[in-house]
Amino acid sequence: MRHWQSGDTLQEGKYTIEKILGSGGFGITYKATKHLRNGNKKFVAIKTLNPNMQIRQDFFKHQEDFLQEAWKLKAFSHPHIVKVNDIFLEEELRYLEMEYIEGDNLGEYLKNYCCQYQRKILEEEALTYIKQIGEALIYLHQRGILHRDVKPQNIMLRKNTKEAVLIDFGTAREFIQNETRTHTNFKTEGYAPIEQYEIKRKRGGYTDVHALAATLYFMLTMKMIIPADYRRDQGIPLKPPKTYNPEISDHTNDAIMKGMELYPENRPQTMAEWLELLLLKETNSILIPRNIPISSANPTPKIKPKSQRNKPTNPIPKKLTLTYSTNFTRRKFLEWGAWAGGAFITTFFIGNVLKNKFSDSSNIITPSIPEFSSETFNFETVEVNDRGEIINRENKSAQYIRENLGNGVTMDLVYIPSGRFLMGSPEYEKGRWEAEGPQHWVEIKSFLMGKYPVTQAQWVAVMGYNPSRHKGTNNPVENVSWDNCVEFCKKVSEIFQKRVSTTI
Ligand SMILES: Nc1ncnc2c1ncn2[C@@H]1O[C@H](COP(=O)(O)OP(=O)(O)OP(=O)(O)O)[C@@H](O)[C@H]1O
Ligand SMILES: [Mg+2]
Repeated sequence: MRHWQSGDTLQEGKYTIEKILGSGGFGITYKATKHLRNGNKKFVAIKTLNPNMQIRQDFFKHQEDFLQEAWKLKAFSHPHIVKVNDIFLEEELRYLEMEYIEGDNLGEYLKNYCCQYQRKILEEEALTYIKQIGEALIYLHQRGILHRDVKPQNIMLRKNTKEAVLIDFGTAREFIQNETRTHTNFKTEGYAPIEQYEIKRKRGGYTDVHALAATLYFMLTMKMIIPADYRRDQGIPLKPPKTYNPEISDHTNDAIMKGMELYPENRPQTMAEWLELLLLKETNSILIPRNIPISSANPTPKIKPKSQRNKPTNPIPKKLTLTYSTNFTRRKFLEWGAWAGGAFITTFFIGNVLKNKFSDSSNIITPSIPEFSSETFNFETVEVNDRGEIINRENKSAQYIRENLGNGVTMDLVYIPSGRFLMGSPEYEKGRWEAEGPQHWVEIKSFLMGKYPVTQAQWVAVMGYNPSRHKGTNNPVENVSWDNCVEFCKKVSEIFQKRVSTTI
C-alpha cells in the first residue's frame, strides 16, 4: 500500500510530494513539485487510487476504469476542464499528473465567502461559474462521457479570476444517451439524481443536469439538499431555492427546479437545453426552449408518501403562535429549543423492540402501527431561516400509543418512523461549535419517543424510587444520571415488549 508524505519522491526524483490536497471514496490527490529537465520546476496535482482502494480485491478493475477515463481525459482540451498532462506507472500503481490549479474549490470558496461576509454569493456570479461548467459538461457529453459527480467540491476556482474548472473524473463513465447499462452506484447525496440510486438505469446528459442544478441550488441557498431517493420514498417535494433566498430571480429559481426534477424524463434532456433555459434572459428570446415547461407554469403533482396515499387528510390543528424578537436567529431558535427540551428528560428510545414489529428496518418507507391500536395526533412544524424568521409552516400528524406503566400511571409514546435527517449545523453559521460539523445526512430506524417530559410518577412506576429534589407527582423527574436514564428506557422497553408479545 502506497501513501505518500511530504518530501517523498516519485519517478526517480521527477516529482516531490508537497501535501495531500484531498482524499475521497476512490482517489487521493497530492500537490507535488515537478522538476523539469531544463532545471525549472512547477507545481502539479497528482492523483491515484487511495490506500483503501489499493487493498481491495477488485483493485485492478478499478484501476483499469481509472486508466481508461484518464486516457480519454488526456486527449481533451477545454478551458473549464482540468488539463491532464501525463499518466505514469510506479510499482503497479497508476498516477495522473494534472495541472495544479491555484485557488479554492467552490465548496471552500462558498464557505469562506459566507463566513466573511455573512451573506450568500450573488446570482450573477453563481451563473458565471455554472455557465462555464455547463459548457465543459456539454463538451464531455458530446464525447460520450458523463461526469456523475458534479458538486461544489469538484469545481476549482482559479485564484483572482472568475474562472471555474471541472475536476475529479474518478467516477466519470462512458454513456450512450438513454441506454440502460450497469453502473456502479457511487454518488454524492443531494447532488446525485434518482437514476444514480439504481445500478441498472438509463443515464444521459440529464444525469449531470440534476447535479449542476443542485450545485446552483446550494450556491444560492447554502442549504444541504434532500437526497433524491428520500424525496421519492417520502414524497417530499423539493423546496424552491427562493424559499431560502428571496433575492433569487424567478427565472433562475424555475430553471433550478426544472433541472432538479425528480424523474429524468421531466428534466431538460441535455445540458444545452438546461443552459438555454437558465440563461434565457441573457441570450436571445428566440432561444425559447422546445417543449420544456417551466416548473411554476406547469407544476409537477406533489407525490404523497406511500403510507399517506388514499388516506383522509387530518383536520388542521389549532395554530401555535410563536413570538420572538427580530434578532432571534436560527441558532437562538435551536438553542432555545434544545434548552426547553434538555431541561427535562424528554426522550427515550425503544428502537430494538420495533425492529421485528415494523417492516421498515431495511428501507425508509414509512410504515403505520396498526398492530398497537395507536392514536393519531396533529401538530404543526415550523421552518426558520438564518434570521430565525418562520418561512414555512406545515401541519403534520403522528401516531402514538398510551403505555400503562402500572398503578394507573400511563405514558404517551410517539412513533418516529425510520428516515433521514440532516445532522449538524452549516459550517458558515455564526456561533456554531466545531462538534456540530460536518453537516451530514443520518439514517435512523424507527423508534418510540416520550411525548412529554418524564414525570416523577412515571419514574416511580418504572424504577421504584423518586430521586427528585422538588417533589411533585406530575413534576418532571430530576437529579438522575445518564445511566439512570438508560436504565429507565430499558425498563419501559421491556414493559412495552411484554405487552406487545402477549397481545399480538
Ligand atoms: N488539479 C488540481 N489543482 C488543485 N487542487 C486540486 C486539483 N485536483 C484536486 N484538487 C483539490 O483536491 C480535492 C480532492 O480532489 P478530487 O476531487 O479530485 O478527489 P476526491 O474527491 O478526494 O476523490 P474521489 O475521486 O474519490 O472523489 C479537490 O476538492 C480540490 O480541492
Ligand atoms: Mg472530489
